[in-house]
Amino acid sequence: MTRIISPSMLSADFGNLERDTKMIDRSAAEWVHIDVMDGVFVPNISFGFPVMKPIRKATTKVLDVHLMIVEPEKYVKRFVEAGADYVTFHYEATEDIDGCIAAIREAGAKVGISIKPKTEASVLKDILAKVDLVLVMSVEPGFGGQSFIDGSLDKIRELAAMRQELGAKFLIEVDGGISSKNAGEVFAAGAEALVAGSAVFGAADPAAEIVKMLEA
Ligand code: DX5
Ligand code: ZN
Repeated sequence: MTRIISPSMLSADFGNLERDTKMIDRSAAEWVHIDVMDGVFVPNISFGFPVMKPIRKATTKVLDVHLMIVEPEKYVKRFVEAGADYVTFHYEATEDIDGCIAAIREAGAKVGISIKPKTEASVLKDILAKVDLVLVMSVEPGFGGQSFIDGSLDKIRELAAMRQELGAKFLIEVDGGISSKNAGEVFAAGAEALVAGSAVFGAADPAAEIVKMLEA
């Protein structure tokens, strides 16, 4: 069974971005999660292309970019050029889902689609065969450090069942409020990749916390 940890750089020390990225690079985490917020789709602003550059330079791990921005299709190419391996956009953020998927594929990255806690998994039914990743938000997007919404486990199970029914191949990633305390049940519900920001960067030993999550 695949188990991937994707530490969210939103919780890193931006004054020591190279140091923190290299620390993740040496850890058991296979992916690095990059949260891009525009202050419109979510009530917060994080960072964009210039901040991705030093992260890309400091690690060879998979860059897992989570776009919390409106009209993502306008920018996906630039995120791929900045080094994204996966580009994930929100179902709720665009009128042009197919155009956004095509733009990410054309630029050469893998495609992810994300849904907010109040969005039903069923809206993705006709999209699932076209994507490489589904990102289930287990908190309202916008901020790190929130508590995991328990109903997310049912949504993960539902998506895993839909995947099996359709014979689809996408990975299920879960984002928000995850630590070694609940990682085991989130993996068990059917997820392959877990995002963790505050649990990793707030730990006394981040590398050990990552291993604990993998073994949870
Ligand atoms: C929230 C972001 C998350 C966030 C997770 O909008 O998408 O990736 O960094 O942070 P924690 O793990 O602290 O909930
Ligand atoms: Zn995220």
